[in-house]
Amino acid sequence: MPSTRILMVCLGNICRSPLAEGVLRSMLDKDFFEVDSAETAGYHIGQAPDNRSILVAKKYGIDISSLKGRIFTPEDFDKFDYIFVMDKSNYKDILSLAKSEKQREKVSFLLDTLDYPMEMKELPDPYYGSEKDFIFTYLEIKKACKEIARKLQL
Ligand code: 4NP
Repeated sequence: MPSTRILMVCLGNICRSPLAEGVLRSMLDKDFFEVDSAETAGYHIGQAPDNRSILVAKKYGIDISSLKGRIFTPEDFDKFDYIFVMDKSNYKDILSLAKSEKQREKVSFLLDTLDYPMEMKELPDPYYGSEKDFIFTYLEIKKACKEIARKLQL
């Protein structure tokens, strides 16, 4: 039974957060860690990730094609130990559902795990972008997840 649970959150749960879910999961032992992702918007419930995210993950050896979009719920604050958001709008939406300081403290910016503690460094949405933007997104996610995995396994 996993003892540490991590949730990745973005607006649509089809571009950034499924990539972050797949990348972090690939770095952790599934006997000890559970990784999931969710959207704030509710646009893509039950849908597979965006094809461009599936392809960029595949290019780097990770299969996210079977993931399904789901919406963030207030119960996620109880289930998960760490909740990573991609940008300020996700942060605002999630915090508006938090009921305590303990819940608020679980939420941080994915990229703040790199060199930006408390800076609210955003990972831009690649949805309206090109393949290059998806590769940039993947590489940023990979750097951040490597750092998260390192800290979780200290
Ligand atoms: P994501 O990107 O939040 O990284 O999954 C988006 C995906 C879909 C939409 C917006 C952002 N949308 O407007 O449908």
